[in-house]
Amino acid sequence: MKRLALALPLLLLAGCAATPNADKQAALTDSARQTAAGLLQTLGGELKAAMTAGGPAEAIGVCKEKAPKIAAEAAQKSGFSIKRASPKNRNPKAVPDAWEADALASLEKRLAAGEKPETLDMSVVVDTPEGKLFRYAKALPTQALCLNCHGDPDKLSPEVKAKLATEYPGDKAVGYSAGMIRGILSMKKAM
Ligand code: HEC
Repeated sequence: MKRLALALPLLLLAGCAATPNADKQAALTDSARQTAAGLLQTLGGELKAAMTAGGPAEAIGVCKEKAPKIAAEAAQKSGFSIKRASPKNRNPKAVPDAWEADALASLEKRLAAGEKPETLDMSVVVDTPEGKLFRYAKALPTQALCLNCHGDPDKLSPEVKAKLATEYPGDKAVGYSAGMIRGILSMKKAM
């Protein structure tokens, strides 16, 4: 009984303190979703255009040079820091940090539980020595188009294979099938 009496005011306090943060988190989540949607639309458009114009081996340049530029522009406009990450990464820099690895694991659980891959995302507010940090992860689902460069290695075109072998010798980003989560778009901003 004594313990309960002590725990209750503490709980109430925690509840009150969480409210302004929760509002801010919801607003940041909205803004992260909008930024992600814009970025992915631009990137998808560029990718499709390059695939139609020159095939997947030519379109590798879009992923290599244009994707970081598009992300940098979106970052500058929105104030989010933005990266793509995957445990089976192609770009050696796209290694997930601890939070990103956990986020991806929980998005994969939700996918397995029946959620649609297109709308899978999550956000948190974490305490850091520098203050509160908003973090957001959006699943990047593997679509049919992606399989040209991330699918079964035996089914990749010889041109794509050759180009990947020279430009990404440590490539781990093959062997995916449609509907799997290829990686995440990871965004963060100080609160
Ligand atoms: C034309 C080939 C090609 C296609 C098609 C393609 N990618 Fe990629 N993808 C790449 C290349 C090349 C990289 C490495 C880019 C870099 O240097 O950062 C990459 C990197 C990524 C990354 C960053 C993590 C990593 O592995 O380095 C993600 C996530 C990703 N692709 C998802 C997708 C998704 C989702 C699709 C389909 C919508 C897709 N890709 C279609 C070639 C492709």
